[in-house]
Amino acid sequence: MNFFIKNYGCQMNIYDSARMIDILSAAGHKECKHLDEANIFIFNTCSIREKADEKLFSDLGRAKSIKFKIQDAGESCIIVVCGCVAQAKKEAIFNRAPYVDAVVGTQEIHNIANVINEVIEKKKNNEYSNVLMGVLNTKSKFEALKTTNITERSYSEYLTIQEGCDNFCTYCVVPYTRGREFSRDAKDIIDEAKKMVSIGVKEITLLGQNVNSYHGEGTDGRIWKLSRLLYAMAEIDGLARLRYVTSNPKDVSTDIAEAHRDIDILMPFLHLPVQSGSDKILKKMNRKYTTDEYLRCIDMLRAYKPDMAFSSDFIVGFPGESDQDFEDTLKLAEKVRFAQAYSFKYSPRSNTAAAKMENQVPEKIKSERLKILQDMLNNHQNEFNENTVGKTVDVLFTKRGKFKNQLVGRTEYSQAISVCDKSINIGDIAFVKVTEIKSHSLVGSVKKK
Ligand code: SAH
Ligand code: SF4
Ligand code: F3S
Repeated sequence: MNFFIKNYGCQMNIYDSARMIDILSAAGHKECKHLDEANIFIFNTCSIREKADEKLFSDLGRAKSIKFKIQDAGESCIIVVCGCVAQAKKEAIFNRAPYVDAVVGTQEIHNIANVINEVIEKKKNNEYSNVLMGVLNTKSKFEALKTTNITERSYSEYLTIQEGCDNFCTYCVVPYTRGREFSRDAKDIIDEAKKMVSIGVKEITLLGQNVNSYHGEGTDGRIWKLSRLLYAMAEIDGLARLRYVTSNPKDVSTDIAEAHRDIDILMPFLHLPVQSGSDKILKKMNRKYTTDEYLRCIDMLRAYKPDMAFSSDFIVGFPGESDQDFEDTLKLAEKVRFAQAYSFKYSPRSNTAAAKMENQVPEKIKSERLKILQDMLNNHQNEFNENTVGKTVDVLFTKRGKFKNQLVGRTEYSQAISVCDKSINIGDIAFVKVTEIKSHSLVGSVKKK
């Protein structure tokens, strides 16, 4: 059958979707780039904020009418919901959308081909019961994924090394949708990275909900920290760039800073979500660091690696956030001057502690604060980008642009950059002189050797 996967949410879902493509392709199905061409629709969902949940149900409404049209023409059509909404809502999805054939939780994606076979069998026998898979066993997921092939990949890829979260920040659904923290064995990670590099991947971003609390079994039988794994990854022939995301500030230690100092292919860019600049709010969020500790952590990394730049996540309007707390967040942003940042209005999620807290902030205030913060963060990002004009930067080209001979890539700091040059191909890494800034991306010309 022909399948289409719609991906929502974070990089981990992108990785999971890539693995589902591997598995379904090996089972003889064919990936399509558009829903209209497919007869298996897979929604790999995100539950981080309420809007993400709502998006699924509006997309499902559309999929339902297409499914009924296909079925009216006498063909078969299957709808599967995977990912974090699947894990959080399980059978409740069937209650709200009974035309969904299967719900597959975050740690069951390796069973996707079997699930589809089961649905096909049930349809053949005219059985209409839906299939539900929602066990949270991360170990067995990665055991199974180990043996699957890696098919087509881009030049820059994600590789999950750690999944799940034990931190229980009071606003967050992830510990409930991804389960407890699990670190993969270093050997399996390195083998998978080598497979990726052998089919042309140049840049790998190691993924984990708390990637810097990685503690997997090393190739020497000892427990390795993230820094040890980074050194081992740097030994892989042909791997040109290495990144890792997302780090929790409470787990940043000097060995990570040393790795940044020592490893050439490790990009000098770190995503370090701070969430708030108020100690009172950080405490209520259960983040386990203070603003002072956060700032010291940035200073420590800059001391080891002076050209290091940072990005961050912010939440505004957390329950009890006063004008003063918000001012403190602005002050912190002003101090660090992030190269890039994401900011969100606090969204209450059922079953999380913060949803039950008093003093929820009115929507109007959240919107006002978000606008003020985003204006500031945008200015900082523009300032960072403008500082690169006239400089030469290292770029990995990952796709073609809209114009003739235009190629688009990423700098070491993950800035989008485009050039028009016939001598450059996708997958090339080249030095580029930055000539101008266009909204959030850079424009440059390739420096000839
Ligand atoms: N593990 C990462 C974050 C994963 S979620 C970490 O600890 O930083 C990505 C981002 O979504 C978070 O950093 C946070 O800023 C935001 N987020 C999570 N839950 C949210 C909620 N309930 N409302 C608004 N934003 C939220
Ligand atoms: Fe969510 Fe906190 Fe875990 Fe990040 S560390 S995934 S924000 S609970
Ligand atoms: Fe969303 Fe789940 Fe990722 S909630 S952000 S897809 S871990």
